[in-house]
Amino acid sequence: MATNMKLNFVLFTLLFVLNAATAQSLVDGSIENGKAISITCGACHGADGNSINPLWPNLASQHASYSVEQLTAYRDGKRMDSLMVAMSLALSDQDIKDLSVYFESLPSSEKVIADPSSFELGQKLYRGGNSKSGVAACMACHGPAGKGNPAALYPSLNGQGAMYTVKQLNDYASGARVSMSPVQIMRDISKKLTEEEIQAVASYIQGLH
Ligand code: HEC
Ligand code: HEC
Repeated sequence: MATNMKLNFVLFTLLFVLNAATAQSLVDGSIENGKAISITCGACHGADGNSINPLWPNLASQHASYSVEQLTAYRDGKRMDSLMVAMSLALSDQDIKDLSVYFESLPSSEKVIADPSSFELGQKLYRGGNSKSGVAACMACHGPAGKGNPAALYPSLNGQGAMYTVKQLNDYASGARVSMSPVQIMRDISKKLTEEEIQAVASYIQGLH
């Protein structure tokens, strides 16, 4: 009995610490200021960070560490996109942090799989990879529910619009999108995917939660 209580206490403390760790952003920014300067962003990314245009990514609940990295990359001309380069040119480093913690604080709304007929292929690739073509399971880095890993800068993917994901995977494969880390993991992976696999895994990711 006493051991049980002790165990429960340890488990409770552990859960508490884990919860606190996930609630705490890795980025030092102001949610209030981010909200105040996010009005223009909401026109495309949705006022609540859940976009309505399938080519404009959802930002709600994306790790602030990842958004800081990507916004800085657009601003400094490393990630190319005419809309986002223009939108980020005038942002200071602090604006970028504030905007990123603001969007991270918003809940992402649940979406559904884009094409149910490709569910099996999408799930297989996401959870198990493709040993024939040497593709690692997406889950290994992006997590079983697509929540990613903020410290490792693995973005969360859950609920992301399928059309946006298809574009990103094609951009990595063609070399149009460069990763910010010297290791070009996503280029290597995307090059090995067939068009059918790209469509299926993007559809599956849209329904992940
Ligand atoms: C006119 C529409 C538009 C506006 C306004 C806009 N964005 Fe974007 N944003 C996009 C598009 C389109 C992409 C994807 C571009 C690509 O393929 O690289 C994007 C990508 C992003 C990404 C990368 C997301 C990811 O998962 O990699 C971030 C972060 C972002 N935007 C933040 C912002 C912020 C902050 C603002 C306001 C200062 C803003 N955006 C304003 C259209 C817009
Ligand atoms: C070894 C770790 C790893 C594996 C495995 C992996 N990824 Fe990634 N992924 C990353 C990293 C790191 C980034 C950010 C790279 C960058 O800077 O562009 C990323 C970015 C992405 C993005 C861009 C997200 C956005 O919002 O801009 C998509 C989409 C993506 N991965 C899909 C996948 C899919 C689909 C698979 C499986 C076929 C996969 N990843 C496997 C590490 C991984």
